[in-house]
Amino acid sequence: MTVSGQKIMAHAGVATATPDLGKESMMGLVQWSPCRCRHLFALLSVASILIWLVFLVLRGDDGLSSNALYLREAQTENLTSEQNDPYINWINLTPGYIDRLSVLGRRIFLNEKIGSEQDRHFTIHIWKYEEYGQDLGDRFFKVGSPENFDPFEDCSVSNCRMSLKDENVMFADAVLFHLHHIAGPPADVPRAPGQLWVWFTDESPNNVLALSSDRILSHFNGVFNWSMNYRMDSSVPVPYGRTVSVPENEWLNTTEDYYKMKRKNVAIMGSNCGDPNNRYKYVAELQKYLAVDVYGECGPLKCPGHYWTNCDKLDDYKFYLAFESSNCDEYLTEKVWWNALHKSAVPVVMGPPRWNYEMLLPPNSFIHVEDFRSPADLARYLKYLLNHPAEYQKYHDWRRRYRVLNEHGYSAAPVCHLCRLCEALNYNNKMDQQADLEPFYDRDQQCYPPQWVD
Ligand SMILES: *[C@@H]1O[C@H](CO)[C@@H](O)[C@H](O)[C@H]1NC(C)=O
Ligand SMILES: *[C@@H]1O[C@H](CO)[C@@H](O)[C@H](O)[C@H]1NC(C)=O
Ligand SMILES: *[C@@H]1O[C@H](CO)[C@@H](O)[C@H](O)[C@H]1NC(C)=O
Repeated sequence: MTVSGQKIMAHAGVATATPDLGKESMMGLVQWSPCRCRHLFALLSVASILIWLVFLVLRGDDGLSSNALYLREAQTENLTSEQNDPYINWINLTPGYIDRLSVLGRRIFLNEKIGSEQDRHFTIHIWKYEEYGQDLGDRFFKVGSPENFDPFEDCSVSNCRMSLKDENVMFADAVLFHLHHIAGPPADVPRAPGQLWVWFTDESPNNVLALSSDRILSHFNGVFNWSMNYRMDSSVPVPYGRTVSVPENEWLNTTEDYYKMKRKNVAIMGSNCGDPNNRYKYVAELQKYLAVDVYGECGPLKCPGHYWTNCDKLDDYKFYLAFESSNCDEYLTEKVWWNALHKSAVPVVMGPPRWNYEMLLPPNSFIHVEDFRSPADLARYLKYLLNHPAEYQKYHDWRRRYRVLNEHGYSAAPVCHLCRLCEALNYNNKMDQQADLEPFYDRDQQCYPPQWVD
């Protein structure tokens, strides 16, 4: 497994710095008093090891700053052939990370049948819906259709109702605050005893609170009870998409011939062309070696598809460049789940490091730009696959055992946000959830620098 990124490098820096410090002090002491130096050296060594251990423990403690939180220890025990199967155990979460999951998180990502519907009703209020709700409403109640649908229609629970007028906020069991539309920590909002306040965002930590006049995350700590976000360890997880395994008796022996089915090669679609992770510079470089069809604002080709309609032109491509606008932990959007995997294109991904994708996407389902030194190298590999149908087809093999679900409500995909919140009200523990924005949503801890700089 590839482990990369600044976080691990920070570890390595400390690991080497500590012994250096010991050596330097010792050298000074050697001339001064050779006989006491042995003890001092031993003492300093012990002290430096202790300092290092304390550092490691502290880093582990905040639960967010280390890849080690997500990655399993290297397997030292013998693997049975079943464990060796890359398709089983693919999700690879550590016990530490699993401990952070809410009851609903365990249901969704670990498929545990825990929690049960309560014998009562819950009222969910969306704060400032009448002022700002249009875009949320278009997604949560419409997904591109002129008609409203019932957000609890396909839900595992059906005992929630919505409240949208702020004068009724006191009667709600849960109040949803869309971070995109609040001016700062909610101040003059009446709060009923026992009521749960839930923050919600689909944006990455780089763009969260974009319209707020107060963007200091710690100012929001102690205000909310729950988080609602794409991350698996949110109190109410609302990922853009997820991978589910097909029951063993429905496994397929073969897959469709996607190579033949798809007549075009490489596409990308988007609207923000100057993102700090250089994604469109990368595309421009790639285009020197390989034709890329660029749809949307950043290229010549047009297709409706942002945000409410589906762009079926993308269905024809063998590869889709699912380049996120931010490289942040677990920030995998509809670009990869809908435009690539759902449309049976192989995603070429740019975003958080490879190990992040390995937790979320089906095994052997994607190509990561981090695996290539340069766009030229990536182009060479894509051309190779375009000339080797059987090798291309291997990136679809997972389809025999897995499916991907889209749950974001963009491009007319299903949306599950309100259902998830209702499920959480039924299943979750009301306390001890990840509700503070800091450090949960701190970009310094969650996001990575560009993987490619020209
Ligand atoms: C691993 O396999 C070796 C050789 O087959 C065996 O001797 C050893 O006991 C096994 N270890 C474990 C932990 O099962
Ligand atoms: C929700 O959070 C508020 C503010 O921290 C707190 O006073 C309240 O007790 C919490 N409610 C529950 C049910 O935990
Ligand atoms: C897959 O192959 C196995 C073994 O040859 C066979 O028993 C099974 O029926 C096949 N499954 C399907 C869906 O064709």
